Amino acid sequence: MPDNQETKAEDELYIDFVNGPVGYRFQSSQGRNQALVKAVGIKGKNIPRIVDATAGLGRDSFLLAAMGAEVSLIERSPTIHQRLSEAMERAKAEGGRYAETISRMTLLHGNSITLLPELDCDVILVDPMHPPRHNSALVKKEMRILRDIVGTDPDQTDLMQAALKCAKKRVVLKWPMKAEYMQGLPKPSHQILGKNTRYDVFMIADQKQG
Ligand SMILES: C[S@@+](CC[C@H](N)C(=O)[O-])C[C@H]1O[C@@H](n2cnc3c(N)ncnc32)[C@H](O)[C@@H]1O
Repeated sequence: MPDNQETKAEDELYIDFVNGPVGYRFQSSQGRNQALVKAVGIKGKNIPRIVDATAGLGRDSFLLAAMGAEVSLIERSPTIHQRLSEAMERAKAEGGRYAETISRMTLLHGNSITLLPELDCDVILVDPMHPPRHNSALVKKEMRILRDIVGTDPDQTDLMQAALKCAKKRVVLKWPMKAEYMQGLPKPSHQILGKNTRYDVFMIADQKQG
C-alpha cells in the first residue's frame, strides 16, 4: 500500500467509546450484544476472565468489560494500539461507569501468537480481519479504515491454534455468518448466531476428548 494511503487512513481513524454509536449503546444500556455475551459464556455471576486476541477498535472488549468481565486486549498494529490507548484514556477521564469499565481492560501491544502462552485466562476471543465481502458497500467505514491500516491477517489459523492451546475453557471465533469453517481447525462445539456475524465456539473440554 502506498505510504500516502496509509497516512490518510491513519488520519481518519478515531476510536471513541464515549460519543457515537458505542457511547450511545453504553449510556442507554442498549445493544447488549447477546450473541457475543452468550458465546463467551457470561451468565449471571459466572463471569470468565477473557483475552481479546484481536483488539482492533476495542468494541467487543468494551462491551464485555461493561458486562463485568476482566479483559486483556492484545493488538499488534502500533497505530491501532496507540489509538486504542488514547480512546481508553479519554473514556477513563469521563469517570463514573466509563472509568469503572476501562479499569477492567488491560491493553497489551504485541502478537497474540507469542503473548497468549504467558497469559492465564478462561476464554480467548479471536476476530481476525474477515475475508473481503463481495459487496464492499456493506463494509462499514471503520472496518474499511482498519483494513487500510492493518491489511489482512494471513496467520489467523496459527492464531486460532495458539488460542486453542492456551484457553482454559473456550475459544470463540467471530466469523462471517455464511463463511465456511476456518480451514485447519477442529469443528467447533457449537455456534451462536448474531445479526451479521456468527460465533464458532470451541469448548476446550470437547477438544481434549476429541
Ligand atoms: C477485525 S479487527 C478486530 C475488531 C474488534 N473485535 C473490535 O471489536 O473492534 C482485527 C484486529 O486484530 C489485530 N490482529 C490480528 N491478528 C493479530 C495477532 N496475531 N496479534 C495481535 N493482534 C492481531 C489486527 O491488527 C486488527 O486490528
